[in-house]
Amino acid sequence: MGFISKTAAFMGMPALRNLVSDSIAIDMGSATTVIYVRGRGLVLDEPSLVAVNNITGEVIAVGREARQMYGREARDVSVVAPLVNGVVADFERTRTMLEHFVREARSGVSIFSRRALMSVDPVVTHVERRALLSAAEHARIGRVLMMEEGLAAAFGAGIKTNDLNASAVADIGSGTTNVAIVANGAIIHAHSNRIGSGDINTAIINHVRRHRGLAIGLPSAEKIKLELGSATLPEDLAAEMTVGGRDVLTGSPAAITITAGEIYPITQYVVGKILEGVLSTLAELPPEVAGDIYGRGIILTGGGALLNGLPEYLREESKLPVTVADDPRYAIVRGLEQMFDEPLLLRRVVRSEPLLDASSEAYSL
Ligand SMILES: Nc1ncnc2c1ncn2[C@@H]1O[C@H](COP(=O)(O)OP(=O)(O)OP(=O)(O)O)[C@@H](O)[C@H]1O
Ligand SMILES: [Mg+2]
Repeated sequence: MGFISKTAAFMGMPALRNLVSDSIAIDMGSATTVIYVRGRGLVLDEPSLVAVNNITGEVIAVGREARQMYGREARDVSVVAPLVNGVVADFERTRTMLEHFVREARSGVSIFSRRALMSVDPVVTHVERRALLSAAEHARIGRVLMMEEGLAAAFGAGIKTNDLNASAVADIGSGTTNVAIVANGAIIHAHSNRIGSGDINTAIINHVRRHRGLAIGLPSAEKIKLELGSATLPEDLAAEMTVGGRDVLTGSPAAITITAGEIYPITQYVVGKILEGVLSTLAELPPEVAGDIYGRGIILTGGGALLNGLPEYLREESKLPVTVADDPRYAIVRGLEQMFDEPLLLRRVVRSEPLLDASSEAYSL
């Protein structure tokens, strides 16, 4: 019995596998970062936020800890989202954030991080992709591979990699809605619109400031959206909640009561834009593909799919079957993780680029 097999027998196969096959799947979105480790499943689900000391520029908290400070930051602290619309807006902080998350994700049994598969938005430019890759390399993840988000979402939503008929997946994130048409393990057509569920939050903030004279923060807007927001006419238009903020005229602390009926048209405006984006992408399909989609409809993924009434609204307006993937927030990262079990397909779908850092070790697929 060789050393490896003896060690394997001693430690038990799974433990050994955990030590050496640490392949990680990363979906770093503008609102949330989710990480799966092969064989271990979900290991991290945190807001894509960092808290920065304004004087020293130092990052003092990341993820959930940064979110706790959001809106109530100490004098010299700002909480920022380093990714905007799925794109690196702040390179240094994206790198620090990713480094922190990967360290946290690794803190199980695994000690090696051999390779990571990350999802990318289809419209990211070459420069943006290099920024993301470079951030990942500086985060010392090992070999970094990239795969188009829509394909990962489709596999994660349960579409078979060898399914010859076309399926449509719409991933509704915070800043983008990404529609992908997939058949036979490849993308036929994809389009990303820069509108997402986070735009509902912004619209709520603007409405409350303009029409109710109250300045509210993003966390309060998110709370209103989750509690009262609906894509279809709310059953109880009078359902209400109280929200506090700063009176725009006097500057004093104040609060208002807001109802589901008041939030409905604001939410409607944004979901209408999301619908428009989805329909215009579907209008660009070849006839056979359009025929497949007519029968199969649209699968929704991403956190935006969880808005009350959204599948019903899209079904009604598009006259197509609309379903929500199981755990839609994790569909992309599930799809990425699946690729580790299909090396041939992985090779085909990754969009890797030469490593920028010569000191990084290259690993074969
Ligand atoms: N239960 C819920 N009900 C309504 N909206 C929700 C719910 N859970 C999450 N969301 C919304 O989903 C959005 C985040 O979704 P997701 O995590 O897919 O975005 P992301 O991947 O970070 O963004 P992007 O893909 O645009 O970069 C947020 O705007 C959040 O408010
Ligand atoms: Mg996303």
